[in-house]
Amino acid sequence: MLTTNSHFIKSIPCIVLLLLIGCKNPEKTGLSKQALIEKKVDSTLALMTLEEKASQMLNIGLPTLLTGDYWGAREHVDFDAEKFKKYVMDHNVGAIHNTPGYLLNTKEWHDVIKTIQDSALQKSRLKIPILYGIDNIHGANYVKGSVMFPHEIALAATWNPSYSESCGAISSYESRAASLPWSYNPNADIAASPLWGRIAESFGEDPYLVSEMTTAYIRGSQGKGLSDKTSTAVCVKHFLGYGAGRNGKDRANAIIPENDLREYFLPPFEKAVEEGAMSIMISSNAVNGIPCHINKYYITDLLKGELGFNGVVVSDFSDVEFLVEAHQSAKNKREATKMAVNAGLDMLMNPYDDDVVNIIVGLVENKEIPISRIDDAVSRILRLKFQLDLFETPYTSPTDYPDFGSKKHIDQNYKAASEAITLLKNENSVLPLKKDRKILVTGYASNSINVLNGAWSRSFLGRETKYNDATKPTILDAIKKEVGASNVDYVAGTDYLNDINSDLAVKKAKNADYIVICVGEIPATEKPSDINELDLPKAQQNLVKKLAQLNKPIILVMVQGRPRIIRDIEPLAQGIIMAYLPGQEGGRALSDVLFGKINPSGKLPYTYPKFSGNYLPYYHKKTDIRDVNWGYDGFYPQFEFGFGLSYTTFEYSNLQISTDSLVGSDTLNISVDIKNTGNRPGKEIVELFIKDLVATRSPDSKKLIRFDKIPLEPNTSKTIEFNITSKDLESIGIDNHWVVEDGRFEIQIGGHPQKLLKRTFNYNAE
Ligand code: BGC
Repeated sequence: MLTTNSHFIKSIPCIVLLLLIGCKNPEKTGLSKQALIEKKVDSTLALMTLEEKASQMLNIGLPTLLTGDYWGAREHVDFDAEKFKKYVMDHNVGAIHNTPGYLLNTKEWHDVIKTIQDSALQKSRLKIPILYGIDNIHGANYVKGSVMFPHEIALAATWNPSYSESCGAISSYESRAASLPWSYNPNADIAASPLWGRIAESFGEDPYLVSEMTTAYIRGSQGKGLSDKTSTAVCVKHFLGYGAGRNGKDRANAIIPENDLREYFLPPFEKAVEEGAMSIMISSNAVNGIPCHINKYYITDLLKGELGFNGVVVSDFSDVEFLVEAHQSAKNKREATKMAVNAGLDMLMNPYDDDVVNIIVGLVENKEIPISRIDDAVSRILRLKFQLDLFETPYTSPTDYPDFGSKKHIDQNYKAASEAITLLKNENSVLPLKKDRKILVTGYASNSINVLNGAWSRSFLGRETKYNDATKPTILDAIKKEVGASNVDYVAGTDYLNDINSDLAVKKAKNADYIVICVGEIPATEKPSDINELDLPKAQQNLVKKLAQLNKPIILVMVQGRPRIIRDIEPLAQGIIMAYLPGQEGGRALSDVLFGKINPSGKLPYTYPKFSGNYLPYYHKKTDIRDVNWGYDGFYPQFEFGFGLSYTTFEYSNLQISTDSLVGSDTLNISVDIKNTGNRPGKEIVELFIKDLVATRSPDSKKLIRFDKIPLEPNTSKTIEFNITSKDLESIGIDNHWVVEDGRFEIQIGGHPQKLLKRTFNYNAE
């Protein structure tokens, strides 16, 4: 039980605090807004007992405050009076997270948050509002009626950061409509292994693309300023190296040397901090055997020190506990808490219990954690609460958000899905499909809104059908709407892993002119998303093989987060479309691509492997691709990073560079002409890579340094220019610092990995 020290502490300071909190108008105080916040943080901290400080560091799961089991099914929120009093009023905990286990609308969320905040603000001693955090992974996905965007991997495939920005902005708006101010997104992980089940939640394998998309998302979420009632504070995750588990599994140990860490994994977080990210979540895994949660070098030296991060560092779900159970790095929770807090962790997502409060108090009293560390953690937490203006606006009114789930938001979602969809094959221009033909639609993903949405959609795994919005079309629904139900036959063919009625699909296909086979992955994240082989499940591949025997045009539509291996069935399809996890408007967008209303313009944000024993990111070293003949041809992905076709064609010409000899900090101007040589308007992604021809630390094959996406009408051209400096030539050298060595570099530019235009130039520091 929380104790308070004296009558003085109980009464007077509250008045001081209220006076300061009441200082809404910075002009009147003569202090800048930030200086005023710092003053409020300091004066609040000065009033707090050690127990109160430790309580601020606790982030408890909502179900712990409710009647019934944590994971039990419920249909309404019943607070357990005793637990509610303990956590909200007595402890006045720092944060609460998670859903009650069912889907709430904005009004229901508002009521829950209001109940919590009114009690925290009126009945706790220091009257500190509680920070509510939620996994807004691709929209405010736990709020009934919200828009659910394409997952991050699909946003990355647009190569158009404005969609990541609008996903951030709309998710924030719709989250605040439900009084939820803190968002556990975006994910800035580098997806280093194609086996990893959370690739869909990432922006892919390239540090530059991931950085651009992450910062755009942050701008969308926080750009108007945190006190704006449509902003949410982001929580960028997962620091650091989560997507690089050595065995490709979730939360697995990653082996990341310091040079790779700095070259690939750190930059997106560095950019996120520069963009003003307010919180960062630590990765559940270990890197080089050291659990990230106790890695003082990562949290304190790198993140808070080198990157200058002054926001809140929060643990992942139960991860202090996992230091004991999973990592076996600490003998008990006390030791684990000590290691994590001393490493720099500010807030513990400790869903089930308040045990860590007493543990922290004991550790400080015993001088095992310095009070300065606790004060630092609590200041960061209070700062975020003041910046979010939670003392003044602890919850919002749903009626102030007329755009929640609006057509405006839905249109933006549809556009994002449309620009993400990536055309990977179009033999004999089989696509777009002609509308006056008979179509068989088949496959696991063809008639499921859940598969389009993936995990984190209304429920954690996104597999519940009861929360689906009946107005949202599946791919099948959208195709029927486009060409008329009488022209469409549907047979499921398979489920995720098993044949259901593939023979019937073959029978029906006999009457069809086109066979559209929608394959896909079961919605999953975290541990449930682990797989043992990357191949598309056999039953789904067999469906394609069986149908291919009819010699009719096959269009393979892939609805999947990961690049599942399709080597054997790729030659059997004339058209191949990657839909990723395109979200709620995905059915409509896919049908519009199939029938040519949308000209596809996405490109792969990862390397699509052909063999499970041959996967590498595009930025590998030359020695990685040495083949059995001692040549250098050992990298043959199914589809390359940055690859994607269009219904029109683009031609690049006239690559010019302003100098063949770049010196010091001068600028090199690059220009290239792009022409739409087909007969449809289209959008082209222009990719600019740099290749260091010789470097002491073996150089990467190439490195993305800029991109742009441009619309072009048929028969028109545009000149695109990029300016680069020596900064863009840098890589991590043998002493683990960014360096550029004098020598020759190559510019590679274009929209097709096999057809990049190239020019070399010389660089000299002076
Ligand atoms: C996930 C995080 C998520 C957190 C809170 C964890 O298990 O790894 O990505 O934000 O749960 O739900």
